[in-house]
Amino acid sequence: MVTSVLARTVCMRHNNSMQSYPHDFLWGASTASHQVEGGNHNQWSEWEKSNADRLAKTAEQRLGWLPSWQTFKDKAQNPANYISGNGVDHYNRYEEDFDILKQLNMNAFRFGIEWSRIEPSEGEWDQKAIEHYRTYIGALKARGIEPVLTLWHWTMPTWFTDRGGFETKTNIRYFTRYVQKIAEEFAPELRYVVTLNEPNVYIGFSYGTGEWPPQQKNPALAYRVYQNLAYAHNAAYDALKKENPHLQVGIAAQLSNAKPVDPKNILNVLSVKLRRYAMNSWFLNRIKRHQDFIGLNYYFTEYCDWRWQIKNPKLPVSDLGWYMEPYSIHELLQTTYEAYGKPLLVTENGLADASDKQREWWIKETVRGLDTAQDAGVALLGYLHWSLLDNFEWAYGWWPEFGLVHVDRKTMKRTIRPSAEAFARIIEQKQT
Ligand code: BGC
Repeated sequence: MVTSVLARTVCMRHNNSMQSYPHDFLWGASTASHQVEGGNHNQWSEWEKSNADRLAKTAEQRLGWLPSWQTFKDKAQNPANYISGNGVDHYNRYEEDFDILKQLNMNAFRFGIEWSRIEPSEGEWDQKAIEHYRTYIGALKARGIEPVLTLWHWTMPTWFTDRGGFETKTNIRYFTRYVQKIAEEFAPELRYVVTLNEPNVYIGFSYGTGEWPPQQKNPALAYRVYQNLAYAHNAAYDALKKENPHLQVGIAAQLSNAKPVDPKNILNVLSVKLRRYAMNSWFLNRIKRHQDFIGLNYYFTEYCDWRWQIKNPKLPVSDLGWYMEPYSIHELLQTTYEAYGKPLLVTENGLADASDKQREWWIKETVRGLDTAQDAGVALLGYLHWSLLDNFEWAYGWWPEFGLVHVDRKTMKRTIRPSAEAFARIIEQKQT
């Protein structure tokens, strides 16, 4: 059915080489509360304090192989790098940041509400924090910018994680109650809500490799948390739709674009299929009756052998050593649309590039990928670049710079990078 829709649309659209996008196409940027706000108190900020020294001491051993090591080693070996602290003070400087969005021709912005601010103690709502986010959403809308709200981007109040967080199925009720509260307060102001950010990445690092809090290496527990997150999404979806049936609700999924390094080897082909199933389909299948769109995060393509060992070409790589194949976003968009038939929103896409030498190329190649997907009939809602600002990159800390806008953390001065200007010109072109 979807395939025939695709085929029809391809016929209608072929020859349209100068792609123009629907007027309401969302062009914008993405952030997450903990990575930019500053002043957060949650399970991550606690973990940072007790792990900063260790991360600084082991930096060379973990990161010394990266081609750009010399350029960031001083930062990576300093414990302060691993503390989110006052962030980039987005909590206070959001008006300035929204003016930058406008200046860059953007009409959409993805941001997070920080659960630990809204409900600092179990069952107690912080009215000041609620009012803050109300003004914040109002400031976006006053500028004609569509808010895309994320409810959970890996950070949680410590009272929730002290009770076992998503490891315990009965705790889902706490998450649903928080979602219900957000729905009551903000649903009339919103159109797009992302319930969960990348459940697969969270369970991978927090319960698989054990690199992130709560640092477990426990496949059975990882599986349980994965399952509970699917239940949590479904319950959140129902709560949101009950409050406002017009809301468009989905998750932001980091979908794997794994490919076999040896496409002629059947074992290699099958093992990559399995990887894509575990990373992509497992979760999406469990929530497929509870989503209006699929948010897709794309950063890299991985060429794997049959044991899932990564065998990527050496170049081009980002500052984090991630192999970059930006145009391939179209493959993921097409396969995901064919599999689920839901509209897609690119909720994250970008690269760590402190020198800003590769970002413009990345954006142009990505937009070429969006054109191809559009030509193939994929229902695409928008493209949100990660990230608007340089931000706190989880266990890597501050040194990787993902921002379209550079932030000097001493002065908090924002400087628009040349690649952002190039992106603004593309948006202008595509909107006319
Ligand atoms: C996450 C972001 C992160 C980005 C770059 C995504 O997986 O959602 O929080 O900053 O990747 O690593």
